[in-house]
Amino acid sequence: MSYLVAGVTGQTGGATAEALLARGAEITVLVRRADQGEPWRARGASVAVGSLADTARLAALLAGVDGAYLLVPPSYGAADYVADRRRLSDAMAAAVARSRVAHVVLLSSFGAQLDRGTGPIRTNHDADATMSAAARGLTLLQPAIFLDNWRWVLRAAVSDGVLPSFLRLDLALPQVSTRDVGALAAECLLEPAPGRRTVQLLGAEDSSPNDVAAALGEVLGRRVVAVQVPEDGIAAAAQASGLSADVARLFAELYKGLNAGRVDFAPGAPRRRGATGVRAALREIVRGA
Ligand SMILES: NC(=O)c1ccc[n+]([C@@H]2O[C@H](COP(=O)([O-])OP(=O)(O)OC[C@H]3O[C@@H](n4cnc5c(N)ncnc54)[C@H](OP(=O)(O)O)[C@@H]3O)[C@@H](O)[C@H]2O)c1
Repeated sequence: MSYLVAGVTGQTGGATAEALLARGAEITVLVRRADQGEPWRARGASVAVGSLADTARLAALLAGVDGAYLLVPPSYGAADYVADRRRLSDAMAAAVARSRVAHVVLLSSFGAQLDRGTGPIRTNHDADATMSAAARGLTLLQPAIFLDNWRWVLRAAVSDGVLPSFLRLDLALPQVSTRDVGALAAECLLEPAPGRRTVQLLGAEDSSPNDVAAALGEVLGRRVVAVQVPEDGIAAAAQASGLSADVARLFAELYKGLNAGRVDFAPGAPRRRGATGVRAALREIVRGA
């Protein structure tokens, strides 16, 4: 059995490829530039250069494997994020249909069952729908918000002892490590279920920004205090960090929805918990910084 893994230079694709290799699976990694594949080739993977947006190329690659890990990668500079990612997920779904690959694990998200009010997760909602119509066998993997997002504000915690947060400071969420997303994606590829299934992945424990600040303080050996960015300042803060105005607006919508409890997992689907606790995930983030 062999598997195509997309997004290996990123968080979840890299973790999925790692987990598959650790379990002895035969994998081909899809990268956009040949040099990005070299570390994977050195570890025994085959390397294919191409884009998820190239339907003909992706279909040809999918036709040669038993399963694939696919995702809708972010494109933070997009002027119209939802339309831009829709074009990409439509291209991926067309490739999946054309190839007739037996099984796809598509990275989705908590909140993807909702068609509005979820900011960037709208792109996962759209991709879930088009891929559900296109795939022969499909696992929709819907994780919680990533613990790894704290990487974006790590520098402020290290230098000033401040952890800026778009979330309410006492809002405990099942934040999950992308290492656990990769482990579950690998498991789903190696043990496919017939037809369609949705698997929700929660973190090993629920944690609030206050909990994360306390844990990060332990990891860094200094006091770290979480500070909430006012909701009407989220879009400006996100734009200042390099996101397009449209993406920044979508992030503001998402975090307002999270803070108000409007954006959450769909009821009913099977739920799993990851293995990586908050401290372990933060230690890894600090080591990699
Ligand atoms: N952040 C969260 O809290 C959260 C929670 C739940 C779900 N999600 C979902 O997670 C997804 C993002 O996953 P991630 O964090 O693993 O992404 P990521 O770390 O940003 O990695 C994206 C990967 O996709 C690759 N890529 C981008 N465009 C490509 C293209 N056209 N063709 C081939 N490869 C391409 C990138 O390669 P290059 O190196 O070439 O750019 C990179 O390897 C989103 O769909 C998001 O909605 C996120």
